[in-house]
Amino acid sequence: MPNLIIHGGLFNLDAIQKRHIEERFHEALVATVKQGFDVLQSVGARACVLHTIRMLEDEPIFNAGTGSKMQLDKKIRMSAALIDSQTNCFSGVINIQRVKNPIEIANLLSREKHHILADEPATAYARQQGIMEYDPTVSEQQTWYEQNCLQKFSTVGAVALDQNNIICAGTSTGGIGCELPGRVSDSATVAGTYAASKAGISCTGIGEHIINQAVAAKIVTRVQDGMTLQQAVNKTIDEGREHQYYFGLIGLDVEGNTVVGKTLREDFAIIYASYDGEKLAAFP
Ligand code: GLY
Repeated sequence: MPNLIIHGGLFNLDAIQKRHIEERFHEALVATVKQGFDVLQSVGARACVLHTIRMLEDEPIFNAGTGSKMQLDKKIRMSAALIDSQTNCFSGVINIQRVKNPIEIANLLSREKHHILADEPATAYARQQGIMEYDPTVSEQQTWYEQNCLQKFSTVGAVALDQNNIICAGTSTGGIGCELPGRVSDSATVAGTYAASKAGISCTGIGEHIINQAVAAKIVTRVQDGMTLQQAVNKTIDEGREHQYYFGLIGLDVEGNTVVGKTLREDFAIIYASYDGEKLAAFP
């Protein structure tokens, strides 16, 4: 049964409440998941993930595309990747600059001989493909930077299952903010984004923690090998908690079951929405 789950990151609930942005998050996520579901039904899982992530990248309240965080040198470098169970081709961009939708370039790379590009060559590839120069900085982000890097881990992601049982997972991020220029996020690695025939996962949180545990690839492998998605997520989250790691994720299996998980118990929540054409779930 087709289903779509999307996320806008892992947030401190206090910070959300203080900034009075629950409604804005809710509206953006619900509008995106509903539009994304139409694309899922009419075209398929990969087109749906591309469409939903593009929408989230274009919404400046999320830390991906427009509104991405700045690295320590005040430059925005973005990362994005996607993979689907039909092609089994992971493609992505790492630390690309001055483009509107990093996920589009990640998608274009799936047709090339080499599927992952980083830094200036990634940006140069985008230009060769006719992708226009774009400044993803917004004034709110500038303010955020000047306020000493207020914590916000709002990577965006989507996992979709279509009527042909194809699962696609994608993730896009502006990083964690104030990181060393050139630091590599989990999002465009198989630790942050992965899908195979039985499940797909998109992660959010501290990339170093996600990479240390190979979170997305590990969960998907566990499901491929016989665990239920919920069991695989629980086990991986428990392992993350043993290390006091800070991450969260969304997942979807080939039966259409969705899971939202996080290592932190209280105070933090993943903001997400899921929609299967009938049932809508969302937080906030
Ligand atoms: N999860 C996003 C990052 O660490 O860059």
